[in-house]
Amino acid sequence: MRKGGITEEICDLLVVSAFYGEKTLSGAAEEVNKALDGQLARILEEDQFKGKANQTAIIRPEGKIPAKRILVIGLGDKKKFKEDVVRAAAGAVFHVAKAFASKHVILEPFGAQDLSAKSSAKAMVEGLRLASYGFDKYKKTTNGNEPDLAELVSSDGNIVRQGQNGLETGELMAEGTAFARDLVNTPGEHMKPEDLMQAAKKIARSSSSIKCKVMDQDDLEEMGAGGILGISQGSDHEPYLVHLTYTPKKKAKKKIALVGKAITYDTGGYSLKPSASMLGMKCDMGGSASVLGAFAVLAKLEPNVEVHGIFAACENMVSGRAIRPGDVVTTMSGKTIEILNTDAEGRVTLADSLYYAANLDPDYIVDLATLTGACMVALGEEITGMMGNSDALMDKLVDASHEAGEKLWELPLEENYRKQIKGDIADFNNTGTSRYGGTITAALLLEQFVQNKPWVHLDIAGPSFAEKPFNSYTQKGATGVGVRTLLELVKSF
Ligand code: BES
Ligand code: ZN
Ligand code: ZN
Repeated sequence: MRKGGITEEICDLLVVSAFYGEKTLSGAAEEVNKALDGQLARILEEDQFKGKANQTAIIRPEGKIPAKRILVIGLGDKKKFKEDVVRAAAGAVFHVAKAFASKHVILEPFGAQDLSAKSSAKAMVEGLRLASYGFDKYKKTTNGNEPDLAELVSSDGNIVRQGQNGLETGELMAEGTAFARDLVNTPGEHMKPEDLMQAAKKIARSSSSIKCKVMDQDDLEEMGAGGILGISQGSDHEPYLVHLTYTPKKKAKKKIALVGKAITYDTGGYSLKPSASMLGMKCDMGGSASVLGAFAVLAKLEPNVEVHGIFAACENMVSGRAIRPGDVVTTMSGKTIEILNTDAEGRVTLADSLYYAANLDPDYIVDLATLTGACMVALGEEITGMMGNSDALMDKLVDASHEAGEKLWELPLEENYRKQIKGDIADFNNTGTSRYGGTITAALLLEQFVQNKPWVHLDIAGPSFAEKPFNSYTQKGATGVGVRTLLELVKSF
């Protein structure tokens, strides 16, 4: 972010904003309007531009100011204005800039007066960067019309200073999110348990404040991690339990464990998925990708908390060695689970990962898992389901998700459903007796392994992978959901 007079900037696209239904332009838009002798306001009126959220109008200033084009973007109703409006508007700007092949874009920080320069700049950078995300690794040809340089400019020194701070945080939020998206978008063939484990090791190598411990098949046998071992026994690729630790330079205020489901591919096992449902199942390590995405930028964000990242990388396959419906596994905790359905595999691996996490005696545990199709039935594709044993931690996550512009909604951890997972021949069954309430019965099983530590479970089956774009900055494909919420959470302590 830098200081400058918006009307004097030389660029391909100059971007200013306007709220819905305001009679006169204000801020940077009014500066531009004055420089154009009132022409901007006239054109907006002619073009029926009302300032609805993400509405755009393009004007050619014809030499009255040095910018080649001016883009006015609507921010919607001022009463509904929040950070995510800015994020979405910035994302929309990216797509317009690309359509006009504008290489150098200059933007005012949208709504800096109404939010704060810091929040505005942060959300703008997130929107721009995330909108520009693409996964081109497997493409021969790519479209090169994207902007090379997008700059935030203001004539107000205070806005520049605070904005710069927000901008730097926004860059990290977007970087972590893109990191998670890349992991999830990568096909199962190139994202085996070992690849996921290596991704964690690589993060640890890049920073002296992050360490990585890896437990392989032999270690897991010694530890009695029968959940992880049982689910992965049908695969040719051995499982790994991965444990990342971030230690802050100053004394840590809290210790928090982030646990992710890490099924690198979920065929369903012998309770085989139909082809159409199996197709997207490279996304089943989305929880661990969010944890890794957060760790990828944690050392630069420097929160004052000790953070543990834990996941059990497994592949759920069919073979002569695969686990059968009806088999019983003994988890690390000693509790046994009868596998009524091999497609309810995530919770069985999480039983061990969560127990391992709880043994670290953290103040908080948060797990993220693409756990149940039922959660998509309940909340749709864009909303994360949240359940937990700690209202305080759930409140913190709600706040963090608002900051992050990610959507989550609490579902009850209904005690009366506990009898549904009580086992006949084992301590527990891995599925409930009813086909209803599957998101809750899954969470109730997880609860059995957190050793009463304050814990929240986020079911991200819906939002982990977008079958169609969610918004201007979340295109079809992996979304990296959870990364920004986790980062906002650790930042909040
Ligand atoms: N990985 C799936 C859940 C999932 C579904 C994630 C759709 C993302 C999109 C999980 O392992 C699973 O198969 N769950 C079963 C549980 C059932 C067998 C009790 C489900 O939801 O159908
Ligand atoms: Zn499954
Ligand atoms: Zn799964």
